[in-house]
Amino acid sequence: MPADSILKHTVTLLLVLSILVTSARAEPGSLSESTTEPASSRNGMVVSDDRIATLVGLSVLKEGGNAVDAAVAMGFALAVTYPRAGNLGGGGFMLVHLGKTGRTVAIDYREKAPLKATRNMFLDKKGEVDVERARHSIYSSGIPGTVAGLSLALEKYGTMPLEKVIAPAIKLAEEGFSVSADLRESLLRAEDRMKKSAESMDVFFRNNGEPPREGEILKQKNLAWSLRQISRTGPRAFYRGAVAKKIAAYMKQEGGLITERDLASYEALIREPASGSYRGYEVHSMPPPSSGGVHLIEMLNILERYPLGRYGHNSAQYVHILSETMKLAYADRSKYLGDPDFSPIPTEQLISKQYAKRLANRINPQKPTPSRYVKPGLPVPAQGTDTTHFTVADRFGNVVSNTYTLNFSYGSGLAVAGTGILLNNEMDDFSAKPGAPNAYGLIGGEKNSIAPGKRMLSSMTPTIVLKDEEFLLATGSPGGSRIITSVLQVILNVIDHKMSIREAVGAPRIHHQWLPDILYVEKNAGEDLEIKLRKKGYEVKKTGSMGSTQSVTRVRGFFHGAADPRHPGGLAHGY
Ligand code: GLY
Repeated sequence: MPADSILKHTVTLLLVLSILVTSARAEPGSLSESTTEPASSRNGMVVSDDRIATLVGLSVLKEGGNAVDAAVAMGFALAVTYPRAGNLGGGGFMLVHLGKTGRTVAIDYREKAPLKATRNMFLDKKGEVDVERARHSIYSSGIPGTVAGLSLALEKYGTMPLEKVIAPAIKLAEEGFSVSADLRESLLRAEDRMKKSAESMDVFFRNNGEPPREGEILKQKNLAWSLRQISRTGPRAFYRGAVAKKIAAYMKQEGGLITERDLASYEALIREPASGSYRGYEVHSMPPPSSGGVHLIEMLNILERYPLGRYGHNSAQYVHILSETMKLAYADRSKYLGDPDFSPIPTEQLISKQYAKRLANRINPQKPTPSRYVKPGLPVPAQGTDTTHFTVADRFGNVVSNTYTLNFSYGSGLAVAGTGILLNNEMDDFSAKPGAPNAYGLIGGEKNSIAPGKRMLSSMTPTIVLKDEEFLLATGSPGGSRIITSVLQVILNVIDHKMSIREAVGAPRIHHQWLPDILYVEKNAGEDLEIKLRKKGYEVKKTGSMGSTQSVTRVRGFFHGAADPRHPGGLAHGY
């Protein structure tokens, strides 16, 4: 694109953005209201956990950008406006469906263990997992992948230059945006972890140790500097240039492991998606090193054998079959999944229909089968699970389904001095010791042990469903171990229970992950269901909301979007 044309487009985009930011300031309260109206539109649809990020994506589509341009702009904007999970210092996965060729590709920008990482780095003298070191320390961070992943997506499948799509994020960081009640509360919850970091305190707790009040403008000057470096010299700035130098210097000063060599060696990868079919629909999702796509398809293959629609949504029999299926898949997860670049993963076998038939034969249609290796008192996830998902569909037939994260809310809580970049605590997603659960209660095996340069196993499940080669549904979710089951239930709600996308996203969810042997049921699922499940023999635990799915469907030529009502501040918007 010629330089004057870039300039013209950038100016228009910034104008749109300044209107958005100004209107957000005029009505600060509006930022904390979740908009779940399933906006309907022919031209495109954008859905995310954050209203400002949705509007940034929308402005890119209106400018003539495609879904990838919009998604990359949102990825950078969320690092500013949704700092608990949006990030530059984390990683994730992007699924892109290409309108032109009908192909779907998976971009892996998961963090990697630094070269100095060792297998037992999180074990104490007694050989037990040192949870503090694994989750809240300078050692908790993998080499970040987000900047490489977003840049690769744009270079391969976008149409706009990086400096254009990153411009809204720079403006939001420099000029600030109005803080929502939700953002303030999330900061208060993360305060203890962030106290250890002068940079985190300086950015988020500037008012005498208080986070900004609702409606106050939050500016992030150092983050704006980092974004500007990336805008000027591309991902090189982050992996070999000025930002890389600051990250490596901070690590050295704090005794961390990530070096300039680690950063320079990081690469995002394009992989073939994990693909399967369900009742005549094509399902594409994230392959290893995420477990999401493999187990989503494994579960769909088992569930295809049951008349779920006839059982009725969240009937006791429906929940029983779902729960038994989830147990089988999560048991496999603990043994077979890890980084495919380090050991072979039996993906084909796990997603085969034949294997699903064998597994289905193990399900007792009447009663739950106890989880055989249950260890009493296994910790249940109490930590924040703040990953974030966003979905964009455009009029050219392209669809992006992207999930990325710092792992916990605000990652390790540590931010790199002088950059405003929060660091992930993704190293906890490795299996620090075989059989010991991670923060989500997930058990890992040998294939997910720590090794230098290895990617830690994930549950992130960005997914795209097609019918007769046409786009039908894209979704994904945060929620740690609950991500895969949240995505599964959105798909079942649309295909088996014929729900609109808004109903499918809002309907109460259940979750079972094999260990602990507990069936989690969202509080609003009803007393009656709980009583029936207990009668069947389940240990039922009522829980608050699970997941925050950001979803788009296309029905008779119209896009419909739904931001998950479980999370305030989300927005689905078409044009
Ligand atoms: N950090 C959560 C996941 O990747 O599954």
